[in-house]
Amino acid sequence: MEKILITGGAGFIGSHVAKRFVNTYPQYHIYNLDALTYAGNLENLREIERAPNYTFIKGDITQADQVSQLFTQHDFKGVIHLAAESHVDRSITNPSAFVMTNVIGTVNLLNAAKAAWQDDLAAHLFYHISTDEVYGSLHQPEDFFVETTPYDPQSPYSASKASSDHFVRAYHNTYGLPIVISNCSNNYGPYQFPEKLIPLFINNIRHQKPLPVYGKGENVRDWLYVVDHAQAIDTVFHKGKVGETYNIGGFNEWKNIDLVKLLCKVTDQQLGQPVGTAEQLITFVKDRAGHDLRYAIDAKKIMNELGWQPSLQFEEGLQKTVEWYLANGDWLDHITTGAYQKYYEQQYERR
Ligand code: NAD
Ligand code: TYD
Repeated sequence: MEKILITGGAGFIGSHVAKRFVNTYPQYHIYNLDALTYAGNLENLREIERAPNYTFIKGDITQADQVSQLFTQHDFKGVIHLAAESHVDRSITNPSAFVMTNVIGTVNLLNAAKAAWQDDLAAHLFYHISTDEVYGSLHQPEDFFVETTPYDPQSPYSASKASSDHFVRAYHNTYGLPIVISNCSNNYGPYQFPEKLIPLFINNIRHQKPLPVYGKGENVRDWLYVVDHAQAIDTVFHKGKVGETYNIGGFNEWKNIDLVKLLCKVTDQQLGQPVGTAEQLITFVKDRAGHDLRYAIDAKKIMNELGWQPSLQFEEGLQKTVEWYLANGDWLDHITTGAYQKYYEQQYERR
C-alpha cells in the first residue's frame, strides 16, 4: 500500500478529504497527522476510524523533530497538507499562532519531505492546500482571481497562507521538490467549526441568539460545497501538473447579507417555523478590521485542464447543509460544551 500523509485531517476540509481517500482508495494507507487544536475534532472521522487503511497520529507540525521523525518512519509517497490556523478573526487577535503553524509548520514539512525524498524526488508529491484570500480583495465587478493574480494578502491569516505558498514554490524552484498548490474559495457544508459564518448562524438560530453581520453585510464571498472541494483535491492530487497552481471555485458569489437572508429562510422552513422568524435575529455589528470586500475565483483552469466541475448548485448545497446541522445538533453541542475535546482520550488513549 502506498502511504499518504494528510495533515489537518481532523478539521473541516481535511476530514472530508481523509474520508474520501480512505473510502475510495484501498490501495493507499492514509496517515492523518493532526495536533487536535480547538479546530480538530475526531468525531468528524468516526466512519473511518477503524478502517484498515487509516491511522491517526496526534502530532504538531510546528515541532520539526516530530515531523522529520515521522518521515523517517514512513516512506510517504504523497503529502496533502491542510493543517492550518484558518479563522481570520482569530488571526486578528493572535497572529503569532498563524505564523507558527501556517508558515513554520509548512516549512518543517517541506524540510522533512525534502530530506526523506532526496534520492527519488520524482516518485513523490507535496500538495499544499491554500486559499483565495492570498490574492487580497477585488474592487472591480469584472475582476476575478486567476492563478497569475499577484498576491496581496490583507489579514494576518492570508499573509501567513501567502507566505506558506511562497515557501512551497521556493522549495520547488530551489530544490526541485515536486509540489502542486490549489487556492480555493470559501467552503461550506457539514463538520465546519461553528465559528465560521454558516455553521455559527445555524447554531445561533437553533438557540434564538443574535446573528452578528459585520458592517453592512456588503462583503462578497464565493462559496463552494466542501464535498466538491474534496473532489477537486482528489483531482489535483492525481492529475495536477507538478509545479502548477490551480484555483478552485464554483463561480458562486454571494453578498453576505443576501446569503444570511437565504440561510434564515431555509432554516425557518426546515424548523417548521414561519419564514421571517430567523431574520429577526440579524444584528449589524462593528465591521471586522481590514475586512476584504470581495473574493471571486476564476476556476476555468482546473475545469478545462483537469475536467473538474462542482456537483451542486448553491441552493441545494445550502439545503443539505442546514439539514445536516439540524440533524446533528449533538455534534454542535459537543463543540459548545467542549465534550468533543475528550474524544481522543476516550477512544484512542485507552487502546
Ligand atoms: P480547520 O480550522 O477546520 O482545520 C484545521 C486542522 O488543522 C484542525 O484539525 C487542527 O487541529 C489542525 N492543526 C492546526 N494547527 C496544527 C498544527 N500545528 N499541527 C497539526 N495540526 C494542526 O480548517 P479548514 O477550514 O478545514 O481548512 C483546511 C485548509 O484549507 C487550511 O489550510 C485552510 O487555509 C484551507 N482553506 C480553507 C477554506 C475554508 O473555507 N475553510 C477555503 C480555502 C482554503
Ligand atoms: P468567515 O466564515 O469567517 O470566512 P472568511 O473570513 O474566511 O471569508 O466569514 C465569511 C464572511 O462572513 C466574511 O465576509 C465575514 C462575515 N462574517 C460575519 O458577517 N459575521 C460573523 O459572525 C462571521 C464569523 C463572519
